[in-house]
Amino acid sequence: MSTRRPLVAGNWKMHKTGPEAREFCTALAGLVGDAPAADVAVCPPYTALEASAEALAGSPIAVYAQNVHENEKGAHTGDISSAMILATGAQGALVGHSERRAEGDTDGQIALRVRNAIDAGLLVVLCCGESLDTRKAGETEAWVTRQIRSALEHVTASDITSLVIAYEPIWAIGTGETASPVQAQEACAIVRRVAAETVDGEALRVLYGGSVSPANAAELMAQPDVDGALVGGASLEPESFAAIVAAAG
Ligand code: PGA
Repeated sequence: MSTRRPLVAGNWKMHKTGPEAREFCTALAGLVGDAPAADVAVCPPYTALEASAEALAGSPIAVYAQNVHENEKGAHTGDISSAMILATGAQGALVGHSERRAEGDTDGQIALRVRNAIDAGLLVVLCCGESLDTRKAGETEAWVTRQIRSALEHVTASDITSLVIAYEPIWAIGTGETASPVQAQEACAIVRRVAAETVDGEALRVLYGGSVSPANAAELMAQPDVDGALVGGASLEPESFAAIVAAAG
């Protein structure tokens, strides 16, 4: 039995304004209560980070950004830095989400973002995962191995308390097609094994993401190497997200 505390994080993507975030977070805090059985976080758009952090002050629910730039400041129109994220009251950031990779975030940038965000004091949820073509070609393990080794290039063992990895097969994101519990387990075990080249694999939290819902969350998170979930669509309503949090306990 693992002693890793589960983490359930809701990735809102490009949904919710500041006022909508405030309303959502107030409702979620009421549903989740003061002592959830898992760590819980929401990942609002940048423009709703501060409103979310304010609404969640005093609750155990954390706020993470959906990305973070690798540089501290400079000519990077449209990007924001770790310090800017921290100043909103948020405590973490996703890095390397497949939707960001598709928009051009490179492996080199992702490795620097992981390093620099941890240095700044953010908890990093590094995302990885293969496309349907890669899976069909039987290359999931090689793909995920390469992504993890690359993203952890500048990470050292002492970073373990600031690092979580989410395995999110691209073919399962937003499609309603979830990886089976067996597929999720296999891939999360690969993630843990590869990450263990750099950090303590037993301590590392590995999440599954991709069409997680209240109906499938308990079975997915019951797998020995699945320590929680990164939830997109089902995190947009307080009731469904709270149900997934409850399933982690
Ligand atoms: P989904 O998104 O739950 O809507 O599939 C997951 C994610 O992209 O993090």
